[in-house]
Amino acid sequence: MIEILGLTKAYGALPALNGITMTVPAGEMCVILGPSGAGKSTLLRCVNQLVAPSGGGVRVNGRAAPTNRAQLRELRAGIGMIFQHHNLVPRLSVLKNVLSGRLARLPLWSSVLQIFPREDIAIAMAALARVGLADRAEDRADRLSGGQQQRVGIARALAQQPQVILADEPVASLDPKTAQVVLNDLRAAAHELQIAVLCNLHQVDLARQFADRIVGIAAGQIVFDGPPADLDDAALARIYPELETQAA
Ligand SMILES: Nc1ncnc2c1ncn2[C@@H]1O[C@H](COP(=O)(O)OP(=O)(O)O)[C@@H](O)[C@H]1O
Ligand SMILES: [Mg+2]
Repeated sequence: MIEILGLTKAYGALPALNGITMTVPAGEMCVILGPSGAGKSTLLRCVNQLVAPSGGGVRVNGRAAPTNRAQLRELRAGIGMIFQHHNLVPRLSVLKNVLSGRLARLPLWSSVLQIFPREDIAIAMAALARVGLADRAEDRADRLSGGQQQRVGIARALAQQPQVILADEPVASLDPKTAQVVLNDLRAAAHELQIAVLCNLHQVDLARQFADRIVGIAAGQIVFDGPPADLDDAALARIYPELETQAA
């Protein structure tokens, strides 16, 4: 569960987030929808403490912000991250890339020697099976298509056995059909593994199709919060005011 309470963030004098309050329960695929510059990435970075809030706060699984390195490491171990670019290690096998999701829970020698406990390999293979790529485990990561690599990125996050997944524009560089497969995998993970997924998107159609709930933000503020069925033209005009101006 992710609890965000009165969160504000300013970069210097420029406000990026202005009083965000929302909760993402376990098992929910929550899409943050908004135009470029709305504050979506800043919001995710505040959740995993890459960015320090200027005010308000975030609790992940009931815990307040970490106050030391050990707590920060523990927080991040429980958060799977998925980015626009999957950043796999190209020359390593698909399986080894997924196993890197286990590193926070493994002794250092394991990664140095590239020897992994049987149980961790089983967890990584199960994560690969979830995204339909178990048969590619031994292939080099760079042999896979862009969409497949992004799904390996999801498997790597799942291998972490996280309670929370943060995905920042995970399909921005994929073709529309592949984007659907990737978002479908993410939603299935939320529902079947009871993970709280917070996924940034800027495409309205994809948000409508895959979100359990859409939170629309514009200029750092929540301007819509509800199920896709409630996202009507008035709500869209609040999220994308500049489009409204163009149409008028
Ligand atoms: N590191 C930073 N330093 C200064 N300004 C930033 C920084 N990161 C983001 N911003 C600004 O904060 C606002 C929100 O950005 P961002 O969170 O990246 O929005 P989005 O992901 O919705 O495009 C924008 O005006 C952006 O220029
Ligand atoms: Mg962004």
